[in-house]
Amino acid sequence: MKIGIVGAGHVGSTAAYTLVLQGIGSELVLVDQQPALAQAQVMDILHATPFSHPVHLRAGQYADLQDAALVIVAAGVSQQAGESRLALLQRNADIFAHIIPAILRYSPDAVLLIATNPLDIMTQVATRIAVAAGADARRVLGTGTMLDTARFRALLGQHCGVAPGSVHAYVLGEHGDSEVLLWSSASVAGVPLSQFAADRGCSLDAAVKAHIDQAVRRAAYQIIAGKGATYYGIGAAIALLSRCILFDERQVLTVSSVQDQVQGVRDVALSLPQVVGRAGILQTLYPPLDSLEQQALAASAQIISEHVAGLVL
Ligand code: 2OP
Repeated sequence: MKIGIVGAGHVGSTAAYTLVLQGIGSELVLVDQQPALAQAQVMDILHATPFSHPVHLRAGQYADLQDAALVIVAAGVSQQAGESRLALLQRNADIFAHIIPAILRYSPDAVLLIATNPLDIMTQVATRIAVAAGADARRVLGTGTMLDTARFRALLGQHCGVAPGSVHAYVLGEHGDSEVLLWSSASVAGVPLSQFAADRGCSLDAAVKAHIDQAVRRAAYQIIAGKGATYYGIGAAIALLSRCILFDERQVLTVSSVQDQVQGVRDVALSLPQVVGRAGILQTLYPPLDSLEQQALAASAQIISEHVAGLVL
């Protein structure tokens, strides 16, 4: 099972490292516009293989992506401290205009997993290019709000004293400032979160919710201010998604893909819970939303759509 990674910076290399540690994929090819960077990352990660899994790992060119089952795209400029994801838009769209056709030239049947910001718009750009080249739109997906969902669950788990994997709570919409935390459907073992919290004697009043909301929404800003980039969380998310795709696991994950219509906004990429497998997106789910969540999702879709409309492609 061959996996390509385009972009060997913090996110691409951490994804590669996590894949190696978890033994996902038999062959891993790193491509970067700076071949020396890709080579150095490969050397460093190779030295972890005696302690993990014997993956065939190399730095390469686009031609080396031939017959990859999955290509992860983590190339592009990333946020500087205080900068929003949307500020990266045109620069990364220009980069994708070169990268995506180059990947598809050698790997037309690969699932494309986009991890470049602004995530939803880059997923939409990649989908447009892939569909124009004859690919199936369902084979293009972005990491979306998987990371935000993980942040939400981690904070709720910590606050309520329960394992984050036992918290069922989703973040939908933009992977960015307008994302929507679904409080109304959050639960633990089918018990509404509000009741679970009350039973455990832990407060989930408006102030606590506002605090958790901000901690999820502003997490990337805080991490970037402290260490310049975020990569461990997204690396773990990419590894899980890769396993889900390669082994056709069909997990429900909040990934981004182009939707015909969301809350009245047409042709927009954003995250909803989706069944992910070997062929990419297999099914999209629409969880129940309360009226505030509906409005917030409509606003999030509108923001993404307006930014896509302003792009020069
Ligand atoms: C994150 O949310 C920066 O999009 C990246 O960590």
